Amino acid sequence: MRILSIETSCDETAISVLKTGGSIFIVEKNIIASQIKTHAVYGGVVPEIAAREHMKALFPMLEISQIPRDGKNIDVIAVTVGPGLVVALRVGVEVAKALAYFWQKPLVAVNHLEGHIYSTFLSQDSFQPVFPGLCLLVSGGHTELVFIKDHGIYEIIGSTRDDAAGEAFDKVAKMLGLGYPGGVIVAQKAKLGNPNAIKFPRPMLDQQNFDFSFAGLKTAVLMYLKKNPVTTEQNKNDICASFEAAVVDTLVTKTIRAVDQYHPASVLLAGGVSANESLRLAFQNQISGIAFSKLYLAPLKFTTDNAAMIAVSGYFHAIKHDFINPLTLVANPNLSLI
Ligand code: KG4
Ligand code: ZN
Repeated sequence: MRILSIETSCDETAISVLKTGGSIFIVEKNIIASQIKTHAVYGGVVPEIAAREHMKALFPMLEISQIPRDGKNIDVIAVTVGPGLVVALRVGVEVAKALAYFWQKPLVAVNHLEGHIYSTFLSQDSFQPVFPGLCLLVSGGHTELVFIKDHGIYEIIGSTRDDAAGEAFDKVAKMLGLGYPGGVIVAQKAKLGNPNAIKFPRPMLDQQNFDFSFAGLKTAVLMYLKKNPVTTEQNKNDICASFEAAVVDTLVTKTIRAVDQYHPASVLLAGGVSANESLRLAFQNQISGIAFSKLYLAPLKFTTDNAAMIAVSGYFHAIKHDFINPLTLVANPNLSLI
């Protein structure tokens, strides 16, 4: 089966062509047009601008991908239907609907979060996580521990009560004047700093649940900066390293507790923040050995938003004939996983 997928939920316009028979996922095309530079001047994503940029990028990207104009080598079209920015989602959804309608191809509506979970399927040539699985899904908008009973059957056992982990990275970057989006920059500076320099709180570790809260940690950084204005670059690096250590510690500790309680056969790490090297290392060092869980990290290039992950998820819907009428599909900005 060859799947054309489209992702426009936020500030990356992405399309992919993925070929699969179910066990091997061959990403034939993976094209991403990032809008980061356009939004950086505003310090965050401006929805209307995101939508306009998606519109500008999408058809040229389809052209570059060399998909035949009649779509004849495509079997299925998969598109992100939500959650995300509604005006941004609509662009991808409407284009996918038009293609599906005129090419007369089956259309699959994919949940962006499910896409992130399935990005872990792209981690090896031939791989399918064994169920039940436990996924730590950490992105700019979400921080969730998802227990996966089977394809498409989820239980959210923990989530953030306020800010997502990626959001906290972005806000701390802003406080330190490091620009947007901040995750990557904070992570780069953290490598040069001392993670033990400042003891930032590990939020909610004292509570016996799987929820997270990163707003308090962000405020702790702000309070620290008020009392201790940054004087040197090393100082900044130490703050980044200490903040990153607090986030990683919290995420890993809660994930280990969930593994102990739920005994998943596989543990998955996905979402934009899973690009973080310290987090990946902590998962490898602290989680790969416990219980009988096998660890799968989303490959680095598929951690942040992309369309290949939408195609993988789309495949598992397509084999169940979980298709949607292109005349009735509408973007759903608040779509949930369960
Ligand atoms: O999954 P994603 O691309 O978009 C959402 O669906 O939200 O995640 C983007 C988030 C941003 O908050 C970004 O700062 C964060 O992932 N991020 C990182 C790193 N790379 C991206 N956070 C920490 N360390 C990184 N290396
Ligand atoms: Zn995402």
